[in-house]
Amino acid sequence: MQLKIYKNYQSLSAHISDEMIALIKHKPNAVICCASGDTPRLTCQLFAEKATTQKIDTSKFTFIGLDEWVGIPSDNEGSCRYFFDSLVIKPLQLATSQFHFFNALSNDVVAECKTMDKFITDKGGIDLMIVGIGMNGHIGFNEPGVSFDNYSHFIQLDATTITVGQKYFKDNVSLDKGITIGLQHLVESKEVILIANGLKKAAVIKTAVEGGLSNSFPATIIQKHPTGVVAIDEEAASLLSR
Ligand code: F6R
Repeated sequence: MQLKIYKNYQSLSAHISDEMIALIKHKPNAVICCASGDTPRLTCQLFAEKATTQKIDTSKFTFIGLDEWVGIPSDNEGSCRYFFDSLVIKPLQLATSQFHFFNALSNDVVAECKTMDKFITDKGGIDLMIVGIGMNGHIGFNEPGVSFDNYSHFIQLDATTITVGQKYFKDNVSLDKGITIGLQHLVESKEVILIANGLKKAAVIKTAVEGGLSNSFPATIIQKHPTGVVAIDEEAASLLSR
């Protein structure tokens, strides 16, 4: 696992968006899977801006959403789908065949998971995963106690996720279950970057980087990925002992 520390949120986001651009330049049909949320917001925005201003051919790459709140419609601005639609899909005018997201309103979530897994397999696997870290150590909606061997699955959300998750929504919503790409996908992804910023993430980053590998703190899985990168700002790095 490699640790990269940036001065602040802006420089972290600039770097990760550059990595996305570099990948697409090198491999136009790359498959990128990304988390939504506060951390990757600027990365996604810069990625779309840079791809446009640098006239990058984005017509062949594939974009996958990491997870979704079960039962929340895509036109709710707190949904992961809404996040990607507004920051990536619409700005880059991606074709429908170029992206895949979990349908949060599906009445067959098991089939949703199978469809996602097949989509990833048919694309030849994920080239780059960009993930965040929750205040309980989750990645995507791989909540504490999750099996490291899971592919896509749906899960009862942890109490912390339900409480913290309200920050994405204008009105109070009832959050209960999540649907997510699994940690086995993460281990199999060619590259993985875990990003975090701010003092509030310092303690969870310390556990992810320096704690023992354990499914009680899913983000420790990053230690298991052969080329896993933890890219954080100075504040998120402030409790690390190295
Ligand atoms: C959201 C997701 C979550 C977030 C995590 C951190 O798609 O996958 O695991 O990455 O909860 O969220 P923020 O970035 O809002 O602190």
